[in-house]
Amino acid sequence: MKRDEGLSEQTIVEQAWEALEKSVIYYQGQPIGTIAASDPEVASLNYDQCFIRDFISSGLLYLIKGKPAIVRNFLEATLKLQPKTGQLDCSKPSRGLMPASFKIASLNGEEYLKADFGNHAIGRVAPADACLWWIILLRAYVISTQDFELVQRDDFQEGIRVSLELCLVTRFDMYPMVLVPDGASMIDRRMGLYGHPLDIQSLFYAALRASLELLVPNPANQTVIQAVCNRLPLLLRQLREDYWLDPDRLNVIYRYQVEEYGEEALNQFNIYSDSIPFYRLAKWIPEAGGYLAGNLGPSQLDCRFFSLGNLMAIIASLTTELQSHKILNLIELRWSDLISHMPMKLCYPALEDNDWRTVTGADPKNRPWSYHNGGSWPVLLWMLVAAAKKMNRGELAHHAIAIAERRLVQDQWPEYYDGPDGRLIGKESRKYQTWTITGYLLAKEIIANPDHLKLMTFDLDP
Ligand code: GLC
Repeated sequence: MKRDEGLSEQTIVEQAWEALEKSVIYYQGQPIGTIAASDPEVASLNYDQCFIRDFISSGLLYLIKGKPAIVRNFLEATLKLQPKTGQLDCSKPSRGLMPASFKIASLNGEEYLKADFGNHAIGRVAPADACLWWIILLRAYVISTQDFELVQRDDFQEGIRVSLELCLVTRFDMYPMVLVPDGASMIDRRMGLYGHPLDIQSLFYAALRASLELLVPNPANQTVIQAVCNRLPLLLRQLREDYWLDPDRLNVIYRYQVEEYGEEALNQFNIYSDSIPFYRLAKWIPEAGGYLAGNLGPSQLDCRFFSLGNLMAIIASLTTELQSHKILNLIELRWSDLISHMPMKLCYPALEDNDWRTVTGADPKNRPWSYHNGGSWPVLLWMLVAAAKKMNRGELAHHAIAIAERRLVQDQWPEYYDGPDGRLIGKESRKYQTWTITGYLLAKEIIANPDHLKLMTFDLDP
């Protein structure tokens, strides 16, 4: 396999920018977003659309580069696509739902934006992360431009409100976390993530924190602001305590009583010891390490490590200082499992054999150590670098960037890598995947000037 050793850092950055500029899409003559991938060698399928989650790293990068117009256009356009009414008609997207993606279509020579709320996607999965990312990007836009006028506009205030109402509504559970179906996030295929997956909870926490900064305290917002204030401490406590796994917690869970009734129950979720791979975990989690588990629900503690949720938890200060350091310690001490030849694993370990069959529905794209099931995703580089830089662990960040830099251009910016060590270019991976390009460029910007962290990070508990 070729490496980029011959190319200078400057050439790699220049080539990345060139590729990024080619991915920009224009609506009525204005830049409005970036397409997911521009691989000339395969059919585009829906990769010629602008995905909300994929655009976040593009948006942050354009803000850093002092080009906020594309971000503003994106925020305004997607806000218009979000339904503001209707609740009971399942053939229409719910009130407050943000689309997973949109594209520019035309009718009688007129351009218009066509949204996909999951109705055109594989498995018909609706995104729970899109409205959360939208709020997080809006906050970054406001911090970067100081354009308070935009966020204080009635339509923007309403957009934030309906997104929050959709997430805060209580349905068939009494937990502070959001309840979502499988496939509602970046992992948009069945991967055993129904319930309360960490990736969504971390984004939920960040979006709630962002909303408190963005919502104008007026009568129309009063109820939702109060609801956010009520929810935040409960959510924080549940995630910091009940999702947390480290050697001490492992000991506590190992000796849990089961079948306890009442409010005083220690084993609140009735986790059965036999469902937890204690011996593997006791070996794997270093004494100085720890992380937030992948999911929590009745008799369920999913002990897989999910990178997005853990990194966003550090970035949003959902974890305490000590917990954040322990997550980074784990990444450092289990480098060959979580990073190896490409930063970094989307989740670890992969589901294999019968687990893969029953949990993913025998999904060939998600076979063990591929794609979402233990594949490595370069887009996560910016989150890793942001989390590490925030905690003053610059060395870790530099090391990860150096690994990615050796390969990404030569491999033509793949969407993901396969194999337990991330050495193989993903089997069905797109080339020229935009968020691979922006993940790298954004990581470089953060390392060059950590002041940019203010666009994405949050201080410890308000
Ligand atoms: C795949 C990924 C999803 C991403 C989309 C566009 O469906 O699973 O997270 O948004 O591709 O890149």
